[in-house]
Amino acid sequence: MAFVAFGDASKDPVFKLADQAFGGVLSDVAKSESFDGKTGQQISVHSHGKIPAKRVAVVGGGIKGEFGNPSIRDLTAMVAQHANKVGAKSVAFLVPTFGANRENALIQHATEGVFLGTYKFGRYLTGDEHKKPTSLASFGLVTDPTGKKKPTAKQGRDFTAAISRGGVVAAAINHARDLINEPAHAVTPTVLANDAVAIGKKHGKSVSVTVLDAKKCKDLGMGMFLAVGQGSAEEPRFIHMTYKPAKKPKKKICFIGKGITFDSGGYSLKPSASMEDMKVDMSGAAAVISSMDAIATLGCDYEVHVVAACCENLVSGHAYKLGDVLTSMDGTTVEINNTDAEGRLTLGDAITYARKKIQPDEMFDFATLTGACMVALGPYTAGVMSDNEGLLKGWMQTAERTGEDMWRLPLNGRLREQLKSSIADMRNTGDRFGGAITAGLFLKTFAKDTPWVHVDIAGPASVSSTRPSQPKGGTGFAVATIVEYATNR
Ligand code: BES
Ligand code: MN
Ligand code: ZN
Repeated sequence: MAFVAFGDASKDPVFKLADQAFGGVLSDVAKSESFDGKTGQQISVHSHGKIPAKRVAVVGGGIKGEFGNPSIRDLTAMVAQHANKVGAKSVAFLVPTFGANRENALIQHATEGVFLGTYKFGRYLTGDEHKKPTSLASFGLVTDPTGKKKPTAKQGRDFTAAISRGGVVAAAINHARDLINEPAHAVTPTVLANDAVAIGKKHGKSVSVTVLDAKKCKDLGMGMFLAVGQGSAEEPRFIHMTYKPAKKPKKKICFIGKGITFDSGGYSLKPSASMEDMKVDMSGAAAVISSMDAIATLGCDYEVHVVAACCENLVSGHAYKLGDVLTSMDGTTVEINNTDAEGRLTLGDAITYARKKIQPDEMFDFATLTGACMVALGPYTAGVMSDNEGLLKGWMQTAERTGEDMWRLPLNGRLREQLKSSIADMRNTGDRFGGAITAGLFLKTFAKDTPWVHVDIAGPASVSSTRPSQPKGGTGFAVATIVEYATNR
């Protein structure tokens, strides 16, 4: 069994209860290992038959008054990892009590933590230890530490729903992680499109998927998207998924993802160290495609569209060049002064497609767009830009609930002058300062008056340092908030 201790363990009521049952062994171990309930701390004690469970693990929850629901993900992730390490088959985890109105969210996030914490991208590891099956087969959530109060029938239904919701969200996040972690030779634009088609098939009538090839994109006039992909031998794919609810939808929402399956920078070539991780440049596409799977599984009152313009940004005799003037789907001409600012070009046409062909009430884009956003906010926080206060507020409140770190950046119109060109309507990059914002302003040109939120996920899409619920590599960032926004408001 496992439970959470908040702060000083000797004062934590659940800890005291367990310590009594253990004849004081727990507090002895806590003392000798300086466990004082801080976040990230953990002790584990063999029970030697004192209680039915073979082992008791205590994880630190930090200060109870500051504990947010999503924080429980890291705690159940830690417990699940520990269980696998000691070869435990089943765990009973005491969900900390924060009152009835937080219980369902805690149960959902606790479930997510188990699946997120045991995620591993091991496909290319050949050593024996990676082939060993993990021991943990069942993870129980206990809502009453005394074991005396049985949940009511309604609570039982709500708990079950929260558990299955957590499982669905975590599966979508882990699927996005797989797509991101796979090398660029394995996840090409065509493979992403096939993945979207497979998700469509899985959901039968409710999800339809259209994939446009280069010829169809050309007919639609997507001059920016096609230019970025033209240097690669991989064919570009433009993906459009549609979810239709059984009842008449309340509104239409569109989620757009950046889908550069590899970003070399093009002729504005990246140095090797910056290029090394550029298989992750399709994290936005991975997030929106995977989210659709969860949205269709959970059901949703809205009509939901997912759009991803997918291609590679490479160098070759066919590649687009600096100084080229491109004509976008909405007719705007763009002079290229940096081929490494390719994401805004592909997204610009994706946004125009959404605006013209889907005409959504709201649209959101998710893109590993700028290093400047990481300079501004660090590696774990997404930059959010919008000039629609209402939509932005709804989005930020949803992110607050899911615990995904997002922060607003200003779409300061004064920076627009940086995008002026003398021979075309605009150029594709501005100065170094405010690079995340000029990218946002570039996209705004195409969003026009459609309510729109831009989320720059360059930092959090992939991480090099771990936390229990998040191993190194692709994180599946944005999936939790997209699914929550579409299905739980
Ligand atoms: N895909 C990159 C941004 C990026 C950087 C994502 C680091 C993830 C981690 C994007 O296409 C890019 O190259 N942006 C340029 C823009 C610049 C040329 C204006 C950048 O940030 O340097
Ligand atoms: Mn780039
Ligand atoms: Zn890029």
